[in-house]
Amino acid sequence: MRKKLLLFLLLSSGILLSSFSIKKDLKMINNDSTKDSTDVKVDSLLTIMTLEEKVGQMNQYNGFWDVTGPSPEGGNAEKKYDDLRKGRVGSMLTVRGTDQVRAVQKIVVEESRLGIPLIIGFDVIHGYKTLSPIPLAEAASWDLEAIKKSASVAAAEAAASGINWTFAPMVDISRDPRWGRVMEGAGEDPFLGSAIARARVRGFQGDDLSAVNTIAATAKHFAAYGFAEAGREYNKADIGTVTLHNIVLPPFKAAEEAGVKTFMNGFNELNGIPVTGNEFLLGDILKEKWNFEGFVISDWASIGEMVTHGYAKDMAHAAEIAVKAGVDMDMESSSYVDELVELVKAGHVDEALVDDAVRRILRVKFELGLFDDPYKYCDPEREETVIGSKENQEAVLDIAKKSIVLLKNENNLLPLKKTGQRIAVIGPLADDNNSVLGSWRIASEDNSGISILEGLKQYSGNELLFEKGAELLTKKPTFINELEFNTTDKSGFEKAITVAKNSDVVILVLGEHGFQSGEGRSRTALDLPGIQQELMEKIYEANKNVILVLNNGRPLVLNWASENIPAIVEAWHLGTQTGNAVAQVLYGDYNPSGKLPMTFPRSVGQIPIYYNHKNTGRPVDPQPGDNMVFWSHYIDEESSPLYPFGFGLSYTSFNYSNLKVENSFAVNEEVKVSVELSNTGDYDGKEVVQLYIRDLFAKVVRPVRELKGFQLVELKKGESKTVNFSLTEKELGYYDQNGDFIVEPGDFEIFVGTNSNASLKTTFSLQQ
Ligand code: BGC
Repeated sequence: MRKKLLLFLLLSSGILLSSFSIKKDLKMINNDSTKDSTDVKVDSLLTIMTLEEKVGQMNQYNGFWDVTGPSPEGGNAEKKYDDLRKGRVGSMLTVRGTDQVRAVQKIVVEESRLGIPLIIGFDVIHGYKTLSPIPLAEAASWDLEAIKKSASVAAAEAAASGINWTFAPMVDISRDPRWGRVMEGAGEDPFLGSAIARARVRGFQGDDLSAVNTIAATAKHFAAYGFAEAGREYNKADIGTVTLHNIVLPPFKAAEEAGVKTFMNGFNELNGIPVTGNEFLLGDILKEKWNFEGFVISDWASIGEMVTHGYAKDMAHAAEIAVKAGVDMDMESSSYVDELVELVKAGHVDEALVDDAVRRILRVKFELGLFDDPYKYCDPEREETVIGSKENQEAVLDIAKKSIVLLKNENNLLPLKKTGQRIAVIGPLADDNNSVLGSWRIASEDNSGISILEGLKQYSGNELLFEKGAELLTKKPTFINELEFNTTDKSGFEKAITVAKNSDVVILVLGEHGFQSGEGRSRTALDLPGIQQELMEKIYEANKNVILVLNNGRPLVLNWASENIPAIVEAWHLGTQTGNAVAQVLYGDYNPSGKLPMTFPRSVGQIPIYYNHKNTGRPVDPQPGDNMVFWSHYIDEESSPLYPFGFGLSYTSFNYSNLKVENSFAVNEEVKVSVELSNTGDYDGKEVVQLYIRDLFAKVVRPVRELKGFQLVELKKGESKTVNFSLTEKELGYYDQNGDFIVEPGDFEIFVGTNSNASLKTTFSLQQ
């Protein structure tokens, strides 16, 4: 034990190097002035590791307490304990709480030969115990500071509970709301997605990874998982290089540039090659072109799954493919720990590849400060004070309010009057304090959210009448079981209808259950599940003053509601503070400012539907006189979405005018754009001013619109402001088929406004 502690001290002080200076290669490292001290320590440690110990660092096991996926064969606790003792484990996931983490650290530190501490990973997706809104909802805030703050709250709580590393942010762009994991990302747009990726990475990792309130982040799932065919989970993706480079990769690159410490590959194959074994993605792009210095972890058992894909003939072959492609750590397939040593000994895998992977892993462990003190994240007192603190609750309430999107508000039904009203609160999700937490909330307590009913009760000036109307589910839901929906029991309808009739206003809370989106939760229908549509129609018949509050983890198809219900509030799954956030918005104590980060379709048949589509040779908006059949459209549905990307209303109104840009610029010049924004309504408010460009003619056909700037602008009622944007080569160029970034001279249109349909337009040209 003493020997091991000494090793830690020596390593962390760099002294170890001299004691091994007889080794020639180490001397070379010592003399290499380009290496920083962490590299020196890593290299010195590497020289005393056996091949078995190195491979052990590349192995990650799930904890014995939680399971988020199918356990691999032989993944029993006894084998895992034994491997921990033998230095055959570098990381564990889903171990949590200072007691549990200390327990597993103690095994490796005290019982394995070198005592190299574990790095403890966990899916801290939208908070640890104090939950923020699901990531898709947070993206609707377009508020990068609030998003960063939310990630830093999550990091502080997780770190206080012994966690070193989160498997977030998920930066997969997706155009398919059938895919359940859209809840976990930032939506459909690479520009917004990149900005949010940066904010989240910075929020989790902070400025100092060794601080006790920061954790390493993961950009996942590299790459194209969000393009799973037909939105069916784990399905293959087939996309061309232009889409790959311009749509899929930019948020990953943004995360890398923000210093993200790890990448995770996806489960999917891309154009015939599983991304876990994809040398082009992991090697050529990530590690060479982008020069990524952190490490890559596989997704859960995804190395082994290459056998099932039909890409590897057996586990050993899968391990060989993965390590050669650039996967540094194996999550739960045991393929590295069982096969890699032999593969190296047999000459199938070069040990240099193992060394490279181990170097990457050890570097992050050093940066986290784990070699200084492997128990530094295991302070029960800190755990007690940090988790669930008042400050954290306030931060998640703040982002929850900002994530709400007002979709419709006819006759200014909202905000609600604070007194003298009789308000009916109806709907299966209205008093639910569990569903509001959303998917991916493994560490939070069940039922620890504030329900919408509870939030509304805090405004005591009105009379509230609650009637559920119907159950959404027939059984208690869990994260790992299929949900069972109530499709028959309408026994509660009558009471709810009576209450609706006797009220001034009805707040109807409907939507998806919190476990209905997330991993493994693909849907073919995007309507309100169960008997909610029928309930809504009956309530509307009884009282037309309905405010529909939606809880959901993905865009839904809401045609009937959108036509009939006068007010619609998109409240997603907002986490712990849901009820307070919704109540503050409904009562006007927070004027909604959220904007959709993903298109809401009119019909599932329109999917994939997204704003930055191509014009085609026969565009969707034909001009008078054009042929009325042979153009790009559907014969049974409009081509336009129900709610476009970037859409969201406020209680006040904004006017855009005076959009200005000079006529022409040189290719490398900054293009300055300005617009006048006025608050013309009756409330102070905040607007997300959005700037889109269209490159009219290019070597690779460009989308009809691309978001290239946005700003959150707060205006008092009656106030006006000039909003300035600047566009550089970075915004005006694009990637060609080879993945080369080019900026072409030519004509551009600029649109500035309140959503992706903005009509205020001007033009400029770029000259050679
Ligand atoms: C998911 C990952 C997650 C991992 C660990 C997998 O099923 O795809 O995103 O980080 O499990 O829980």
